[in-house]
Formats: sequence, C-alpha cells, structure tokens
Amino acid sequence: MEIDADGLSIRDTYALMTGIVVPRPIAWVSTMDDKGHVNLAPFSYFNAVGSDPPMLTLSIAARGDGSDKDTLRLIKTTGFLCVNLAEEGDAVRLNDTSAELPAEVSEARHFGIDTAPCFKIPGVRIASSRAALECRLVEVHVYGRKHKVNLVVAEVLHLFVDDALLQRGVPGLHINPAAVQPIARLGGANYAALGRRFSLHRP
Ligand SMILES: Cc1cc2nc3c(=O)[nH]c(=O)nc-3n(C[C@H](O)[C@H](O)[C@H](O)COP(=O)(O)O)c2cc1C
Repeated sequence: MEIDADGLSIRDTYALMTGIVVPRPIAWVSTMDDKGHVNLAPFSYFNAVGSDPPMLTLSIAARGDGSDKDTLRLIKTTGFLCVNLAEEGDAVRLNDTSAELPAEVSEARHFGIDTAPCFKIPGVRIASSRAALECRLVEVHVYGRKHKVNLVVAEVLHLFVDDALLQRGVPGLHINPAAVQPIARLGGANYAALGRRFSLHRP
C-alpha cells in the first residue's frame, strides 16, 4: 500500500507513525510549580540528541483546545524538567500518570508516587526511578498545522544513577545493559519490555 501523507487524517497519521517508529523510549517527566505542586507525565516522542553537552528532546502535543499540557506549561514557566527512567515495574503507575488531572492536582500525590529533591535543579525526581536526568530548557520549537506540537530541547545538567545500574570492573562510567529493564512504547495502548540483548563490535 502506498500512502500519501498529505491526504491522511490526523488519527490515521498518528496511528501509523506511532506503530512504525517503534519501540520508543519513554521519558517519565517530573516538573514542579513555584508552590511545590509536582506534575508527572510520560512522553514517548522522546530521545537523546547529543553528548557535548548531553541534550534530549521531547515532543509535546497541544491539547485538543490548543492549550499547553501542564508539563509544557511548567517547563516554559520554570525552565526546568527532570526525566526519570521508567522500568518494567513502573508500567502501570507510569500509564496512570498520563491521566489528565486538574493543574492544581499533583500526580505524584494523587497516585502515591514518592519523590526526592533534585540535586541541581529546583524540582523533584521519582524516588524509585533508578536513573534521572535533571535538565534545563534550551528552546521550544513549535511545529504543525492545525494541531501543534512543541519540540522541547533540553540540556542535561545532572545525572542520578543508582549504583546497581553501573557496570563493575570496567574503566569509566557504563550502564550495565543487563541491569536496566526499560519499558518502551509501541502503537496504540501497547508497550514492550526488552527481549534478547546482543552485542556487535563496530568495524
Ligand atoms: C506511554 C505514553 C507516552 C506518551 N507520549 C506522549 C508524547 O510523546 N507527547 C504527548 O504530547 N503526549 C504523550 N502522551 C500523553 C500524555 O502523557 C498526556 O497527555 C498527559 O496527560 C500529559 O500530562 P500533563 O498535562 O500533566 O503534561 C503519552 C502517554 C503515554 C501513556
């Protein structure tokens, strides 16, 4: 089947894109307002874009009425966000935090998710997450026709890593690939855990 993107409905485009670009890593983002309300939400249009300095991107769609999702509003007003690692045991809670709650309701408190203060930015990380990236906002790029998306570009200022994830007996800081159990997003309501891992050395 050949499909011209120009004639596709937004619903079909979304279904095809999120079914083809798989598996997507998931950023479990914590943001905090100036009154200490903590917002949590997952975003799978997410990836790392560089190492010098470490940077990442998230793509946050506008709500149906065109307004900013709470995460985006808080990133824009505070200039900070924290990306927490989501692993297999987090799947249900992570999915729960995608619920649209009123802005003044903290997802962390509502779903009983403990947080810990960030080290370098004003904000919190999810206490049980075994890695977290504390970030500052670099830029928000707005794309889209009727339905806007906001490409958030952020710089990682500080990394929290549980020692249990680190590879022992090798020089430098490496994450042990066998230790980390990430969850990823597929199309629709589907998630994936990692299957078989294998190594290939570069030529
Ligand atoms: C696994 C998962 C991944 C998601 N990825 C995105 C995404 O990349 N971009 C987006 O705008 N919404 C995404 N969503 C939906 C948001 O999490 C949802 O709109 C949430 O209510 C936003 O919360 P907020 O208003 O507190 O920011 C995703 C939802 C789930 C469950």
